[in-house]
Amino acid sequence: MTVPQLHIENVNRSGEIVTAALAGRRPRVALVLGSGLGGLADRVAEAVTVPYAELPGFPVLTVPGHAGALVAGLLSGVPVIVLQGRKHFYETDDPYPLKTMVRTLRAVGVELLFLSNAAGSLRAHIGVSQLMLITDHINALGLNPLSGANDEIFGPRFFGMSDAWDAVLAEKIRAAAAAERIPLHSGVYLALRGPSFETPAEIRMVQAWGADAVGMSSVPECLIARHCGLRVVGVSCITNMGAGLSDEKLSHAHTLENAAKGAADFERLVMAAVPLLVTV
Ligand code: HPA
Repeated sequence: MTVPQLHIENVNRSGEIVTAALAGRRPRVALVLGSGLGGLADRVAEAVTVPYAELPGFPVLTVPGHAGALVAGLLSGVPVIVLQGRKHFYETDDPYPLKTMVRTLRAVGVELLFLSNAAGSLRAHIGVSQLMLITDHINALGLNPLSGANDEIFGPRFFGMSDAWDAVLAEKIRAAAAAERIPLHSGVYLALRGPSFETPAEIRMVQAWGADAVGMSSVPECLIARHCGLRVVGVSCITNMGAGLSDEKLSHAHTLENAAKGAADFERLVMAAVPLLVTV
């Protein structure tokens, strides 16, 4: 099995297009905006927007709440790339669109990837519309985007995940939260494949496994990013209590509604954190 030549060409070609859009800027930070958190893209100054459709190999999005565009510009005066939307593994079994996205960031010189997502809380003290800094993850997707052929130009066949979520950068995010007086929990994010939400029994199981929040994203992005040497941080916006932990009925509309409530804090946190992240 070999890495499709087309994939390597897509990364190179998308890298050229993004580099042109950067117009000489060299962003060290890229952010992936989760469900309902896309509003941060509107805060990007001097924004240049490139729809994913113009980037070879990038995902074609189908989920409401995910716009599907790369936005380059300045956040709090710092050059960044913002990815508005990504493809989940409940939409496709093909890991290549996500790989193209993350590897293109690497190709254009990005060093830090800031992931965000909407997630269900597994702990009573982590409430709806609050934020949780991701300190570690559990991959319960039943797949790994790096399985199959490896291409050494992107990263090694085997690689460690003991420091996958960067503790030094996480401290910067905690400092930004403290300065902005934004309550910020910390915890372990567990990714399941979806698209169904969990049963109450599954929620009890993942609580026992040591997870603090559950969602359907970010773990593949983290794996692909760590493989190609990017440093990773992440924040979950809690949109609901896990199934069975409260009386509310779970739905995507509900997720987006509660993400919008947490989005104001999320945006403020990111604006404050980005300048600190690039001082590393
Ligand atoms: N489970 C899985 N994914 C989610 C949830 C949840 O409760 N909330 C938001 N994304």
